[in-house]
Amino acid sequence: MVNSYAALSGHYDRIMTSGYYDYGDYARTLLDLLGDRRHLLELGVGTGLVVEKLLELAESAADDGTAPEITGIDHTESMLAQARARLGGRAHLLQRDILRMDLPAGFDAAFSVGGVWYHTPDPDGGGKGSTLLCSHLVEDEDNIKGLRNVHAALKPGGVLLLTRQAAHHDHTCELPGGLVYAQTIRRLGEGHYVKDYYVERRDGHVEAHQRSEFRAYPQERGLDLLEKCGFQAVYVSDNGLFHGYARR
Ligand SMILES: C[S@@+](CC[C@H](N)C(=O)[O-])C[C@H]1O[C@@H](n2cnc3c(N)ncnc32)[C@H](O)[C@@H]1O
Repeated sequence: MVNSYAALSGHYDRIMTSGYYDYGDYARTLLDLLGDRRHLLELGVGTGLVVEKLLELAESAADDGTAPEITGIDHTESMLAQARARLGGRAHLLQRDILRMDLPAGFDAAFSVGGVWYHTPDPDGGGKGSTLLCSHLVEDEDNIKGLRNVHAALKPGGVLLLTRQAAHHDHTCELPGGLVYAQTIRRLGEGHYVKDYYVERRDGHVEAHQRSEFRAYPQERGLDLLEKCGFQAVYVSDNGLFHGYARR
């Protein structure tokens, strides 16, 4: 399976909750942008960290106690197993590759928090705030197929929300339990990157190593791709965390 997270999954939560992502910020912003949209689909749900925060906030905000109905898909079973343990029956969790996603149409919104797609600042964008569209799918035809599957799963008028994250760069940090996390990124060619993730003990013993490949489209190409698949850019959230696309 291309870009499986199986090798990193045993350490994923430890890395992500040690300051890598602020899930509270993502969930608050999502809730605000989603308004009264209730049927939601997360693309690359991972271990369920986003859904957990979203449900927590939505449940405490809802006067009538109603929470959104969330479906999460992911192709890595060992990530989903953790999501199931975390969320119990509070979300529908399905092992699906986005390329073979065959869900009935009817979602009000789909979102990806560092999942199948996301944005990062474009270091070659001339400092004008332009962003790259990054993808765990490396081939053009797969990106088209995956985005068309999302389009088919959304209701007319539905939205697609993709996070904007910090630029990828080499990075090392301490983790609880005497472990060290390191990531390195290398450009393979125009728009193609390989990222290595390591979890090591202080004595240098490698506990886990995962290699993932990414595709990065410059802003105009990313917008063309989304447009070709039936999505139109409509907004960026005030705090810059999410880019919103309307399903045409
Ligand atoms: C960086 S993790 C993000 C997980 C979660 N959204 C979070 O914020 O913690 C990316 C996830 O996308 C999933 N993924 C990558 N490519 C995928 C594909 N083609 N189909 C389904 N899931 C995919 C991976 O298995 C992984 O769990």
